[in-house]
Amino acid sequence: MKYVSTDLSHLNHAVDLKAYEEKVKEIDAQIKNKTGKGNDFLGWVDQPIAYDKEEMKRLKEAATYVRDNYDILVVCGIGGSYLGARAGIEAINGVHSTKKPEIIFAGQTLNPDYIAALLEYLKDKKFAINVISKSGTTTETAVAFRLLKELLEKNIGLEMARKSIFATTDAHKGALKTLSEKEGYVTFILPSDIGGRYSVQTAVGLFPLACAGIDPEEVLRGSAKAREDTSIPELMDNEAYKYAVARHVLYKEYGLSTEMLITYSPFLVQFGEWWKQLFGESEGKEDKGIYPTSATFTTDLHSLGQFVQQGTKSFFETVLHQKAYLKDVEIPYDEENLDGLNYLVGKNMAFINEKAFEGTLKAHHDDGKRDNIVLNVEKIDAFGIGYLFYFFERACAMSAYLLGINPFDQPGVEIYKKNMFHLLGKPGY
Ligand code: PA5
Repeated sequence: MKYVSTDLSHLNHAVDLKAYEEKVKEIDAQIKNKTGKGNDFLGWVDQPIAYDKEEMKRLKEAATYVRDNYDILVVCGIGGSYLGARAGIEAINGVHSTKKPEIIFAGQTLNPDYIAALLEYLKDKKFAINVISKSGTTTETAVAFRLLKELLEKNIGLEMARKSIFATTDAHKGALKTLSEKEGYVTFILPSDIGGRYSVQTAVGLFPLACAGIDPEEVLRGSAKAREDTSIPELMDNEAYKYAVARHVLYKEYGLSTEMLITYSPFLVQFGEWWKQLFGESEGKEDKGIYPTSATFTTDLHSLGQFVQQGTKSFFETVLHQKAYLKDVEIPYDEENLDGLNYLVGKNMAFINEKAFEGTLKAHHDDGKRDNIVLNVEKIDAFGIGYLFYFFERACAMSAYLLGINPFDQPGVEIYKKNMFHLLGKPGY
């Protein structure tokens, strides 16, 4: 059984996978032998099986301590240093979780209203902080952390604050590393050969997930299974590579330069954010790349649906189709039937969501002439989310290499920072 299968039968354009078999084998060998562009950052390839078992033990103990002693965990990080954790937590715990601790995100914005409101919210609460930064110098994260740390120290004193702060950073260098050592924070490592957006299978993602009550080893088991399945060099047997080649062909041969990741779950909105960063920051270089965007159906069928059906034809859809859900609800009988819904009595929401998926797929493909790649996913639980993280990481590396691009750097991101530092008067800028 394939945990994720790539269905290319809903495309309107012809995609000849066979023509890419040799090229894919070549790139697969580059990934495994670390001979491609950016090969210093391929630590994520084996991370699901090669992870530090000793650190995992410490991480789980620390997470238990946080769960037992705090009402809130503030995860302070930006980009690859928070999107994976947020995506995983929301995918499993949902959007109205009452689990303790509540997980809140900071360090991902410079917006004063957000930060002021957060400090106000935390003022009288019992909170811990997980500050995450590989470089240790990211302004958004550093500024928020300084403010949060000050509040914590004011609330509970220096010594207790030190016990309530958990840092995830580079093993050897950076301002956060120095600060953590000086203050004696419990520290977790982001290995040097893993970049931010490929780091969800490290403590960057796993510590917040564990604090949220999600088994980090089950997430890694999912990733490890995906690693096994996506390490097959034969394109026709590798679902992640099939997906990578299909999107590459739609872009290169047919000029479809936008990809919409479609889910049918509000729990996966943040997964869409993680996916957008993964593909956007990995591929958008040298005037190339597919613009990644995401939508939640059926919600967005009532906002974007018209455009998708009949608007400009410059995009394709990639639909995450869940075959099973975490929970389900049945439609009850109503004597009066004033809403006219008694035809659905006894049916559950999974059935209705499925029919919405089928009807939409047919509308977009047959009438709208849109190309739809359908990724059938067994179930999005802890194992499933781990599987999906790795599936897309591997597909993204293949996809960027097909374009001749280094998937692991982000030179363009530095330009806004330089301008901002100059305007802020940072020494040296
Ligand atoms: O994917 C990336 O490398 C980036 O999104 C980084 O994760 C992000 O810029 C945060 O960097 P840092 O962890 O150094 O604070």
